Amino acid sequence: MKKVSLLLICLVVLSCHKKEPKLEPKVKPACEKPKSRFKMYEMSEMAALMEQMYVDNQRLKERIIKSDTIGKFPKHFLKIHTAKMTDEADNDDFFKEKAEAYIKAQQLIYSDSENVKQHFNDGVKACITCHEGKCGGPIARIKKLYIQ
Ligand code: HEC
Repeated sequence: MKKVSLLLICLVVLSCHKKEPKLEPKVKPACEKPKSRFKMYEMSEMAALMEQMYVDNQRLKERIIKSDTIGKFPKHFLKIHTAKMTDEADNDDFFKEKAEAYIKAQQLIYSDSENVKQHFNDGVKACITCHEGKCGGPIARIKKLYIQ
């Protein structure tokens, strides 16, 4: 009996130790959330654009579901090519290529309204494709945009 409880204590201690490295942020700084509630989180121009695109896509999704009119391609999305990032090193060939693909996917939503749902979901997939290479943090949130 004693041995068992000793083993248990060891396990608990060990598992606590194992958890420690998890406190280290794994995500890249570009995707980090504010560390402290008391410190203002300064969002980069790119991060702010991303949040805006998120909201825009949320609204678009609702309109598509309701078969409402969807208007025009939001031109501010094009700022993805120029907006300042938290870490400018992220603006590499991978980013540029995925940004191009993302804009193309988003434009299709407006130019081919017959397959609007499919194009919308392809647009969300294009967000995720870039995030898989750049920053995984927001992916779970982005997936919620998919129209089922
Ligand atoms: C071409 C690559 C790329 C595409 C496409 C892309 N993202 Fe991002 N996203 C990034 C990068 C890089 C950052 C980090 C920006 C920074 O911190 O400066 C980011 C950050 C974010 C963030 C976190 C912003 C914050 O609060 O710090 C969200 C949310 C996000 N993206 C959502 C989206 C959504 C939604 C889409 C599609 C509509 C999208 N992203 C498309 C690369 C991309």
